[in-house]
Amino acid sequence: MDSYIQFERVSFSHGRRVILDQVDLVIPRGKITAIMGPSGTGKTTLLRLIGGQIRARSGRVMVNGLDMGRASRSELLAMRRRLGMLFQNGALFTDLTAGENVAFPLREHSRLPEDIIQRIIALKLQAVGLLSAADQMPAALSGGMSRRVALARALALDPELMLYDEPFTGQDPINLGVLLRLIASLNKALGLTSVLVSHDVTEALSIADQVFVINEGRVVGSGSPEDLLVQKAQSPFLQQFLDGVPDAVTGQSETEARNLAVALGLGVPTVPMAEQESVQ
Ligand SMILES: Nc1ncnc2c1ncn2[C@@H]1O[C@H](COP(=O)(O)OP(=O)(O)OP(=O)(O)O)[C@@H](O)[C@H]1O
Ligand SMILES: [Mg+2]
Repeated sequence: MDSYIQFERVSFSHGRRVILDQVDLVIPRGKITAIMGPSGTGKTTLLRLIGGQIRARSGRVMVNGLDMGRASRSELLAMRRRLGMLFQNGALFTDLTAGENVAFPLREHSRLPEDIIQRIIALKLQAVGLLSAADQMPAALSGGMSRRVALARALALDPELMLYDEPFTGQDPINLGVLLRLIASLNKALGLTSVLVSHDVTEALSIADQVFVINEGRVVGSGSPEDLLVQKAQSPFLQQFLDGVPDAVTGQSETEARNLAVALGLGVPTVPMAEQESVQ
């Protein structure tokens, strides 16, 4: 398998708090890989390691042959030019039209003449079905349209790697379906490698070629969506996560909830949070 990204025993911590603990991942080129797991388990951290915004404390992150821990500044910049990212809650620049939002990375990172920039804006907006919205201000766009303009902006520099951090959050079912199809069709049409972080289990599994489930900083399930269904039979956590409530109160979040309860003087709940959920 031709891989685009490899994590080799990668650990990352904030202070003494371990966020990722010896994670091994292989993300294939040209495919959609979904990263799933409960809130606070290190999914965004993982994307930030891929994008080189943070460096691993130990282990090795390789992106398209580049060792992110040893890369020079210019190598990192060159790598980022091939990377498109749809950030978690990523907002548009509110004082720029949709078209100018798409043009922003082009104006920042290229010296293309204006007529070419205008053609690229039209192409990218057309790719997300919003050519007619070029002159609209973000305030006039629906949530789903805004997300698609942000996607067009992420595609502006013709990336070969796309990172999506919770692209479906806050979307109604129709917009969610449109975004899903867009992510899948763009991946195929443009030959991208896509990494999709999402809580939305059914949706993510429907377009992913490969899946990693992480919990408490470790990989607890991996393989094709079908492989995951087999692993589920042996793992209570995977059962709860894949079948359960989207924001399963498990693992690290549970610890966080307990710490918060203690800090607020509420004492430690005697019943595990996950069980409390199920008895309510
Ligand atoms: N700058 C920081 N300083 C300290 N702790 C941090 C910092 N950034 C993130 N964390 C902690 O690291 C953990 C992992 O964060 P991360 O954002 O990767 O989680 P996530 O899986 O993306 O969660 P979510 O699904 O809610 O987006 C969280 O518990 C968070 O509190
Ligand atoms: Mg996150």
